[in-house]
Amino acid sequence: MKGSSRLRRLLPYLAFTALALTLVACTGETTQYPNSTFEPKTELGRAIDDLWDILLLLGTIVFVLVELALAFVVWKYRNNKEAKHTHGNTKLEILWTMIPAVILVFIAVPTVRTIFETQAPAPGDALKVDVIGHQWWWEFRYPEYGVTTANELYLPVGRTVSFSLTTKDVIHSFWIPQMGAKRDLIANRTNYIWFTPDTAIAPSVWNGFCTEYCGTSHAFMRFRVFTVTPEQFESWVAGQKATAAFNAGPAAPAPSAPDSQPPAASPLDTNPPAQPIGPPTGTGTAQLAGGVAPGYFFPHESMPEYAVPQRPLPANISFTRGLTGDPARGQTAFMLGGCIGCHTVRGNPMAAGTIGPDLTHFATRHTLAGGTYPNTTDYLARWIKNARVMKPGSIMPTLGKGEYDPVLKRTAPVSLDDQQIADIVAYLQQLR
Ligand code: CUA
Repeated sequence: MKGSSRLRRLLPYLAFTALALTLVACTGETTQYPNSTFEPKTELGRAIDDLWDILLLLGTIVFVLVELALAFVVWKYRNNKEAKHTHGNTKLEILWTMIPAVILVFIAVPTVRTIFETQAPAPGDALKVDVIGHQWWWEFRYPEYGVTTANELYLPVGRTVSFSLTTKDVIHSFWIPQMGAKRDLIANRTNYIWFTPDTAIAPSVWNGFCTEYCGTSHAFMRFRVFTVTPEQFESWVAGQKATAAFNAGPAAPAPSAPDSQPPAASPLDTNPPAQPIGPPTGTGTAQLAGGVAPGYFFPHESMPEYAVPQRPLPANISFTRGLTGDPARGQTAFMLGGCIGCHTVRGNPMAAGTIGPDLTHFATRHTLAGGTYPNTTDYLARWIKNARVMKPGSIMPTLGKGEYDPVLKRTAPVSLDDQQIADIVAYLQQLR
């Protein structure tokens, strides 16, 4: 009996120790905690982290002092049966007003200093990136280079990057935990944030998120950040500036033998072990300065597990096994199937839509649908077939023949059969 009551008394202390140990365990390597804010990789992240450390230290000191004083009073007067009431004590009142005021000064000075530091204008030579939020994907524009991407951000290490943040629709919030950057995208207003990725982290991948509830698929509004060397970045820019690698011309028959196996399209399978990514990596054999091949993009096979979406293939979208797509036929289907109304493919004058992501270099991307699915043949085919089942609320229409459109609540009005979809997949996988 006595033992159990002692245990009960110890319980709060044990719980507190367990909590403290759990919190201590929250720091660690990137691969173990890829979305931790406690291992900042930019000066902005470190400024916020340092401020947090100061505030935590001050808060802990105040907490310990208050608890000690409380414990002392409780212990000292434990046998005091008759408490004496007093009204008004000027000395005490001045004291307990002054102490919090002094504490607030200690909190305010480093806080205001950090705010001024991080809100100052970015250095003039910073790389400018326009971030545009959409329900539910991210558009990234590099005005200096005339490059537009979706859901994948390439940043050269050691160079300050200055983001200007706007939205096409509702409020979103741009957040890369490891970079320390988090800022809202608000309609009719441009917000800014800037930071410099550490030189030691190239090449690496980081996860980015939308952290403001923005509708049905808010949880599927993600992006990837690739911090690369300046040489890799230059090479990537050169590749992205180029028009689409494959251009069969509008609605022309396949220039090469139509029966031959297209190089990049892998046959579709209905129950895959999700193979890595369809398109091959790296292009060309010539080397730029710094030993980087032209048209660099982060190698698909080097994607760390934490950056590859783990969502399974939706079971309710079936797809014919073993189809092989033809990219030339796919380009025709891409144009006749209405895809060009929403998507741009530079190099194809017919494809100039701006509602959906720019697909000029789609095959260099690692994810689909706002970072929701891996960019593999099987996921891509199902995405084209029924995007609205893959991602609730998506503007991308349901295109598969006989597929039920959950937004229109009827069978898809535009209908592509599985072979046509396989052709479009083959076409998209040529866009490097
Ligand atoms: Cu965009 Cu949440």
